[in-house]
Amino acid sequence: MFPLLKRGIKGDLGASMKKEYSVLIDAAKAALKNSYSPYSRFKVGAAVLGGSGAIYKGTNVENASYGLTVCAERIAVYNAIAAGEKKIKAVAVAAGKGFAYPCGACRQVLSEFGKDINVIIVNKNRHVIKKLSALLPDAFK
Ligand code: THU
Repeated sequence: MFPLLKRGIKGDLGASMKKEYSVLIDAAKAALKNSYSPYSRFKVGAAVLGGSGAIYKGTNVENASYGLTVCAERIAVYNAIAAGEKKIKAVAVAAGKGFAYPCGACRQVLSEFGKDINVIIVNKNRHVIKKLSALLPDAFK
């Protein structure tokens, strides 16, 4: 587990992972601008790091029939899988305001594609890194 970090990636990560994660964080922040959230006005951007090293973005997409809304994380995961990824290494989630921890449904969807996924929760200049296994212990598989 890593403490609350300010700006640069610190903690027990190797140099190449730090660079990879800062690119992932930037992708999640960039995805925010495409958020379709006219009902909640809560923008979320996500970016998944696939097993191949490629990055896939997602944003929340809401609907007039509220229950059909899909979270940014799931869209990023489905983009990655649709592009041929078999595994997910990490996901970054950026919110327009504050921190957005992935909801229970997104945690379960993530757990389908990796045991050791790092979840990076981001706001303007801070982030927290947690293992998916800490966010969803005893996942159904
Ligand atoms: N939302 C996400 O996209 N990801 C999260 O981790 C939490 C919630 C979206 C769903 C909805 O469009 C808006 O945020 C408010 O719940």
